[in-house]
Amino acid sequence: MKDATELPRSLLVLGGTSEIALATARRLIARRTRTVWLAGRPSLALENAAGSLRALGADVHTVAFDALAPESHEAVLGKVFAEGPVDMVLLAFGILGDQAHDERDPVRAVRVAQTNYTGAVSAGLVAGRALQTQGHGWLVVLSSAAAERARRADFIYGSSKAGLDTFAQGLGDALYGTGARVMVVRPGFVRTRSTAGRPRSPFATTPESVATAVELGLRRGAETVWVPGALRLLTAALRHAPRALFRRLPL
Ligand SMILES: NC(=O)c1ccc[n+]([C@@H]2O[C@H](COP(=O)([O-])OP(=O)(O)OC[C@H]3O[C@@H](n4cnc5c(N)ncnc54)[C@H](OP(=O)(O)O)[C@@H]3O)[C@@H](O)[C@H]2O)c1
Repeated sequence: MKDATELPRSLLVLGGTSEIALATARRLIARRTRTVWLAGRPSLALENAAGSLRALGADVHTVAFDALAPESHEAVLGKVFAEGPVDMVLLAFGILGDQAHDERDPVRAVRVAQTNYTGAVSAGLVAGRALQTQGHGWLVVLSSAAAERARRADFIYGSSKAGLDTFAQGLGDALYGTGARVMVVRPGFVRTRSTAGRPRSPFATTPESVATAVELGLRRGAETVWVPGALRLLTAALRHAPRALFRRLPL
């Protein structure tokens, strides 16, 4: 995959059971992807996810990966890259946490930060270096619109995504010109199991819409992708709203 706007033939998903990641994998398999590595915590769900992609005709492998074990990331990703070129790494792991509960339980709050941010710092650096050594490939990072500005309702999650988002932008700049590229994807509310039962935003979207936006982003060579696209302008406006007003908005 020497041309960055070509869709990937091989895909490594970090967070292999993520509904958004699996919708993206399905879409890419329908286009061009033939080999998929699903990295995640070993579970029946991970094996079922692999089976569902195999049924679409892809060659699918699973590999044990824990975002909370950064010391293992080099070895885990190294094993995958040693098997052949990886055209795209999709960094999809993450937890939403439970804001009200986590505010009273700092250890759980830290787990959100460690999974979403420090886990991604480690995995992102390892993936970025491997793509650079290879001389081509995308690191696609699932950030969030929540990274844009702290909201009362989810600032623990939002701050972890803000860290991830800033890190991914910087990594993209560090890799610029090496052949390795970074795309930051900022979905708003996506209807998945992780958001089941939570109040919906009027901009609620689906894993399939995120997958479509990622495909379009790859074709365009985009560095930033909002899903839905209208969120870009909305969050830009909200970012500049005065604090006193912003904290009273029902967001
Ligand atoms: N859904 C939304 O509204 C939304 C909006 C914006 C951004 N996002 C982001 O998009 C990404 C995917 O979300 P999703 O909606 O597809 O959620 P999901 O289906 O719940 O997927 C989350 C994934 O993270 C994995 N994970 C959690 N902790 C992990 C750990 N310590 N090590 C390895 N993997 C771990 C889960 O694996 P297990 O199977 O082992 O639990 C699962 O594969 C997340 O980063 C999320 O923050 C989601």
